[in-house]
Amino acid sequence: MTERLNTIIKTLNSEQLDGFLLFDANNITYLSGFTGHAATALVLGQHAYLLTDYRYFEQAKAECSVFEVICRDRIKQSLAELIAELLLKHGIRRLAFEADHISHSAWLGMQTHWPETDAVPFSRLVEDLRYTKDDGEIASIQQAAKIADDALHEMLKSVKAGVTERELAAELEYQMAQRGSQGPSFDTIMLMAERSALPHGVPGDRQLQHGDLLLIDFGAVVNGYHSDMTRTFVFGQADEKQRTVYQTVLGAQQAAMDALSEEVEGLKLHQASQHILNQSPYAKYQGEGLGHGLGMDVHELPFIGMGKNLMVKRNCVITIEPGIYIPGWGGVRVEDDVVLTDNGLVQLTQFPREMIEL
Ligand code: GLY
Ligand code: MN
Ligand code: MN
Repeated sequence: MTERLNTIIKTLNSEQLDGFLLFDANNITYLSGFTGHAATALVLGQHAYLLTDYRYFEQAKAECSVFEVICRDRIKQSLAELIAELLLKHGIRRLAFEADHISHSAWLGMQTHWPETDAVPFSRLVEDLRYTKDDGEIASIQQAAKIADDALHEMLKSVKAGVTERELAAELEYQMAQRGSQGPSFDTIMLMAERSALPHGVPGDRQLQHGDLLLIDFGAVVNGYHSDMTRTFVFGQADEKQRTVYQTVLGAQQAAMDALSEEVEGLKLHQASQHILNQSPYAKYQGEGLGHGLGMDVHELPFIGMGKNLMVKRNCVITIEPGIYIPGWGGVRVEDDVVLTDNGLVQLTQFPREMIEL
């Protein structure tokens, strides 16, 4: 029994639950080791099952040490029917299920096929374990961050007048792949001039011109763990406004980093950065949140400064990413990945944060 699975079983016992049904691919990977993306997991008492089909059966058997892997014939048996069979076999009366990850059809299947089982919606059972990272997880994110740093240095050699957003994004993703990234963390954001005011814009055919802002938000993936970094450059010499906005954003990021020397409420970090942003003539253009947890998902617990006030605990990996986005002019965001350790904050992304004129 792995320690992670053991912790889940203990929680189920303390909540008088006989079992737990999981749908989320990353939660399933976290508990079982299976890295494919088509499986359902069932923890029934001390017994754990991974339900998949012929496409993943061999892979799942090789990757799962503790879970019993069942290959479902999808023509002969529905998922709900197979689960019903296992619930009956183990005499399950109260079954928790991942309330945040269930599809409507799975919900209907539960009601049709398991009338004897009391299905109990449960949130954050695995997510709360993923909230803080172990050494191996942090090492994977650090490796992804290093790949991203190195790839960005290399990609900058391709920056020249006339190059398009799409060309630079493709070059950056290629450089990450060459260095061992499993794929981009998300669709690379590469935006020039006024388009950099779109916080999550999509690269297009815009060509680089002297004086443009160039905002790049991207990441690499190692062992299923993501990095997430943003840098904003100026192509040529920066003007006064670009300089001012950049220094404000950098100051806001530094203030949040300074506030993270020990376990702290995320709201405190958000307020520290807002305090700087609010003194700027461009305060009304600041972004909404400050950052988010980072791991198997690009966005995961704890979310910082977006409604919920969650603790940033020791061994949480989070992003700190203040930004100012001025419609019609452009945007500046600086984003880094950090982890809170026994010795305070450690920055995982290492690319220089000061404004760079290309
Ligand atoms: N690129 C997504 C983010 O920074 O949150
Ligand atoms: Mn990002
Ligand atoms: Mn981010």
